[in-house]
Amino acid sequence: MENLIELTNKIQDVFSTISSSDALDLPQIVVVGSQSAGKSSVLENIVQRDFLPRGSGIVTRRPLVLQLITLRDPAAQDYAEFLHLDKTIYDFAEVRAEIEKETARLAGQNKGISRMPIHLKIYSPKVLSLTLVDLPGLTKIPIGDQPTDIEKQIRSLVVDYISKPNSIILAITPANIDLVNSDSLKLARQVDPEGKRTLGVLTKLDLMDAGTNALDILTGRAYPLRLGFVGTVNRSQQDILTNKAMKDALKAEEDFFNQHPAYRRISIRCGTDFLSKQLNSLLLNHIKEKLPEMRSKLNALIHSTEQELQQYGDPAMVAANVQGGPLVLRLLTNFSSEFVSAIDGTSPNIS
Ligand code: GDP
Ligand code: NA
Ligand code: MG
Repeated sequence: MENLIELTNKIQDVFSTISSSDALDLPQIVVVGSQSAGKSSVLENIVQRDFLPRGSGIVTRRPLVLQLITLRDPAAQDYAEFLHLDKTIYDFAEVRAEIEKETARLAGQNKGISRMPIHLKIYSPKVLSLTLVDLPGLTKIPIGDQPTDIEKQIRSLVVDYISKPNSIILAITPANIDLVNSDSLKLARQVDPEGKRTLGVLTKLDLMDAGTNALDILTGRAYPLRLGFVGTVNRSQQDILTNKAMKDALKAEEDFFNQHPAYRRISIRCGTDFLSKQLNSLLLNHIKEKLPEMRSKLNALIHSTEQELQQYGDPAMVAANVQGGPLVLRLLTNFSSEFVSAIDGTSPNIS
């Protein structure tokens, strides 16, 4: 069943190369939060790698579609691949540099944002299969030569992603602000008023005022989300400056929850490790539920692609005129039959 996520990933790749990429609305997890809420930190913790660009202001300026793929061999080395680059990258500093370069290529040096996603795959024995989309942070103040309507642009990009019924919204809020001021929860509520597909993440639990805690939120008594809230403690700015190792940071997070007087009894439902497992099973169940729908959309798409290709008549002309056309068709047909077997294999769970 794990490979359903990988099958969905492959379809996502193919679709990103053809025009009607929005037609399928594939299940994915979309990360939302205001600037500095801790989005990058949460993603890096999940991946257990430093690989995202850092800095002040709007660092994420293109959507990053991040596919995590589990390597079965526990001793295997982690590596990364970009869809736009024919290269296997083992050095994660290079991954960061490439994201920066690709961002600047389409979105300029400091300016605005671009809606064109960057596609990145990370292979590692330490990750669970997941597809996560990182988006620009919600912001209020344009800086430097950023367009004055940058807030509106970002908001509209985020809303586009989280409005899709197949998106699971990972709404990130720092625990050291009041929940009613959370931009991510406000926006999530607009598109998911019943809180059915929003998972809350509370970051910076270590930065709450002494004597206060977020137990009410983490146990679901303060804010109604069907999928609940998960608390995390990520690396602080100081930890980043001193290059605190990822595995030490994860250990410190675990200790924090195990030793905290308020969180000790719920520590099993806290932290990055729990969050990854939760996301993996949410995504898997979501894909299973959507299999029949994905399959019929895929079939409709095969049909329209076939018709489009027929307009070109002569197969030789097709090869010459439609870049990758017949290949796309072949891939789509393959996926469709893979879906059939996946559906047949799981039909008792689906109905
Ligand atoms: P983003 O803008 O949402 O991607 O936020 P970042 O992940 O870049 O985090 C912004 C700042 O908050 C960085 O300096 C992080 O080190 C810090 N930070 C993030 N999460 C935590 C946390 O749980 N605890 C502490 N102490 N600092 C955090
Ligand atoms: Na927020
Ligand atoms: Mg960030």
